[in-house]
Amino acid sequence: MLKAKSILLGVSGGIAVYKSAELVRLLVKEGASVHVVMTANAQQFVTPMTFQVLSNNVVGTDLFSMESESRISHIQKARLPDLIVLAPATANLMAKMAAGIADDYLTTILLATTAPVLVCPAMNVKMWEHPATQRNLRTLVELGYRIQPPAVGALACQEEGAGRLAELGDIMEGSIRLLTPPSLAGKTVLISAGPTWEPFDPVRFLSNPSSGKMGYALAKIASRRSARVHLVSGPCCLEAPAGVERTCVTSALEMRDAILRLSPDADAVVMAAAVSDYRPSERAIQKIKKAQQGLSVLFEPNPDILAALGEVKPPAQVLVGFAAETENLLANARKKLGQKNLDFIVANDLTRKGSGFACDTNEVKIIERSGAVSDLVPMTKEEVASEIWNRVEQLFTGAKD
Ligand code: CTP
Repeated sequence: MLKAKSILLGVSGGIAVYKSAELVRLLVKEGASVHVVMTANAQQFVTPMTFQVLSNNVVGTDLFSMESESRISHIQKARLPDLIVLAPATANLMAKMAAGIADDYLTTILLATTAPVLVCPAMNVKMWEHPATQRNLRTLVELGYRIQPPAVGALACQEEGAGRLAELGDIMEGSIRLLTPPSLAGKTVLISAGPTWEPFDPVRFLSNPSSGKMGYALAKIASRRSARVHLVSGPCCLEAPAGVERTCVTSALEMRDAILRLSPDADAVVMAAAVSDYRPSERAIQKIKKAQQGLSVLFEPNPDILAALGEVKPPAQVLVGFAAETENLLANARKKLGQKNLDFIVANDLTRKGSGFACDTNEVKIIERSGAVSDLVPMTKEEVASEIWNRVEQLFTGAKD
């Protein structure tokens, strides 16, 4: 996601500096070129050498260093990055930024840059809650800085509360978001994810091995592209991606109700859920006791949510489905595309390794209404999600033309 991106990491002096070293490693691993600038206080916690080795770039430490200024001036350094991340951002750094003070290498760059800046505060809880810090925070938001709020928990100063540096995964996600063009801004998208559970007694149900990963990846990528995202999720262990409005459901009937309530406002609906086609005709109130003669459960069909959406689809809405198949992939998927009135369908061959249920990768074919088939190479579910949104965006543009 960060390939060929230039990121300047500004490090100010707090105990969380040691976490920033790991952040450099993660950014570099994602393909970013990282340049670190440290304040004098930050260098009291970790030496510039650590950051230099991890980033493989010279660390900026001194505004008046003849050597670094002759190699690349602080003004050039301010022009270079696609993104500036400040982690940790101390109360002092935030105060200086709010006041427009430029009295060292980092604050001078911050005043001279036009790059987006992600501020990741970390400090003692009392310092964070102090009215002056909170006022500075509001000023920074007004000035256009993005804030990755601190996490709540145990602090190095033996106190509890808000002030821990945000989780590195959240800082990475915040950085990726700032670097992602807002190509779905102004659009509302509705996504279903995960399995459904169809209980036949209080402890047993009919379901399937869906993990929800494909639907959650779709929600994450759409949110990164600045869509308003509604996610209707069957039972799974995944956390809602940042900025996503999630409705949790259990059964197919609950999923249908949630989807039909939200779909009229959606510019695009993607049904990635593995909806159970059947539900038990009866549900025992108490746990069914085991017996020697076996157990027969009668099932009745669940409504087809996607087909119902296809019947009432407004002309401008983009409707996307998945086809989970174990045989005749293309023929079966084409049939669903037509029967459910979809704009395109994502066909999944469940017999292939690294594809379909519960894995991080997927190998799919995308079939369009025109009949065109795109055979995608095996890729991560986030990459598949990007391919899907690229096509949805093309359909949005087509609808406008
Ligand atoms: N789907 C749905 N409601 C159902 C079943 C499926 O909305 N009751 C949606 C799925 O979310 C998916 C698409 O329809 O986007 C196709 O689902 P799939 O399980 O592949 O096929 P089915 O239509 O259920 O048909 P079959 O089980 O016979 O393959």
